[in-house]
Amino acid sequence: MAGVGLVNVRKSYGAVEVIRDFNLDIEDGSFTVFVGPSGCGKSTLLRMIAGLEDITGGEIRIDGRRVNDADPIERGVAMVFQNYALYPHMTVEQNIGFSLRMAKLSKREIAQRVASAAASLQIEPLLKRRPAQLSGGQRQRVAIGRAIVRDPEVFLFDEPLSNLDAELRVSMRVEIAKLHQRLGATMIYVTHDQTEAMTLADKIVVLRAGKVEQAGSPQDLYDNPANQFVAGFIGSPRMNFIPAQLRSGNAAFAGGIHTVPLDGADQDILVGVRPEHFRVGGDAADVDLKVDVVENLGGTRYLYGALPDGTQLVVEARDEHGIKAGDRVPLGFAQRRPLFFNTSGQRLADLS
Ligand SMILES: Nc1ncnc2c1ncn2[C@@H]1O[C@H](COP(=O)(O)OP(=O)(O)OP(=O)(O)O)[C@@H](O)[C@H]1O
Ligand SMILES: [Mg+2]
Repeated sequence: MAGVGLVNVRKSYGAVEVIRDFNLDIEDGSFTVFVGPSGCGKSTLLRMIAGLEDITGGEIRIDGRRVNDADPIERGVAMVFQNYALYPHMTVEQNIGFSLRMAKLSKREIAQRVASAAASLQIEPLLKRRPAQLSGGQRQRVAIGRAIVRDPEVFLFDEPLSNLDAELRVSMRVEIAKLHQRLGATMIYVTHDQTEAMTLADKIVVLRAGKVEQAGSPQDLYDNPANQFVAGFIGSPRMNFIPAQLRSGNAAFAGGIHTVPLDGADQDILVGVRPEHFRVGGDAADVDLKVDVVENLGGTRYLYGALPDGTQLVVEARDEHGIKAGDRVPLGFAQRRPLFFNTSGQRLADLS
């Protein structure tokens, strides 16, 4: 097993710096998930760890060893790509065994490893087929099988489930969690899917423009985001940001109707409240929400609407059935203490 270290890593394409002074320690055996907007450098980071891409500066360490100049094959790393990258003219068996043939393992050893990977992924009946004769989920399993047979210290997954339908995504997500438990290997995983990030990760790393915005456990990032960017990125639907004023130790928001004591100099601020942290209905309401759209998901529903001052909100109404577009719904803010940000998106120190 092996941990991965990135020390002052930089990557430029020509004059464009896409990874900037990147530092991250990935613990041996952990499951780390990279999230961030499109183009922020997630795939580039994985490809640099795999050795498929040179680094412009800094150091990459695997199991404490500097691997900057090591070939991909020497790094003990296997990568699973979003598009699977299977060889179309080879059977499943040949695809899974390909890297082992390249490494000149004996026929017997190859057969054994392929059989054991196929068994663990439950694709034994498919071994003689070609990729074109497989479903998306089956192809995905083959791509993972190709990584498993190499018995890597580190698995790199680049959005491995994004081409699958919703149901298959859920079942493959559970398969990947089981795989991690069974193999105990270090896994680094890129996704745009909130649920995958929250459920799979020991540690989520939120990236923006080639830098780490915040790294921590999923619960940590959800409860205690360092800034507005992370607060808005973790959680779905995303956190609401309500314009407010901090005056003489009080934050006044929702048109001045609701106030909360808050330390700090007088300034305009943003109050962050997650959709699931409002109280909907009841007597002790602070303000009315005028509902424009109701999304009913069966078990829960999301209300899209506006406060009297025009602020747009998304509110989760779990138990309140029968709310329709056009209704005015009493809303309480006191469910949980909100988060406060200054207008540049930095978290305001919350001393209370
Ligand atoms: N070969 C290349 N030459 C020049 N620029 C590149 C090259 N590969 C990637 N980039 C740029 O580097 C940045 C990071 O790309 P990368 O593929 O790592 O993003 P990503 O976070 O994986 O995005 P996505 O979520 O869309 O997959 C982007 O701005 C991209 O345009
Ligand atoms: Mg990518």
